[in-house]
Amino acid sequence: MAESKTLYPAVGSYGPCAVKGLKVGETKKWCTCGLSSKKQPWCDGSHKGTGFKSMKFTVEKEQEVLYICNCKQTKTPPYCDGSHTSAPEIVEKRKNACAKKDGHVKDCKLCTNCGWVPDF
Ligand code: FES
Repeated sequence: MAESKTLYPAVGSYGPCAVKGLKVGETKKWCTCGLSSKKQPWCDGSHKGTGFKSMKFTVEKEQEVLYICNCKQTKTPPYCDGSHTSAPEIVEKRKNACAKKDGHVKDCKLCTNCGWVPDF
């Protein structure tokens, strides 16, 4: 049996998205890769070729505001669990220790070994 490897996402932002206006029963696709540039925290298809897939979720209860994770480090996806407060230090350490650091070049979409993305 093949060993599964942890893929590390990019960070959409170091804080949640406050989402309003969703209805009970509405289905959304949460971006897990962090690359969605058009409509975070939702998937825009940018994950193609990275090994990530969006996560489907359905709104289960009426809430005026949902705090949806955008650092992509939450343990309670798609909801914010406060992981963004410690994420910058963890993510920076992971990037600095990345064994594939030499591949961190501008035309690399995402290094799933550490979550590195090129600066734009
Ligand atoms: S764009 Fe990130 S999971 Fe689809």
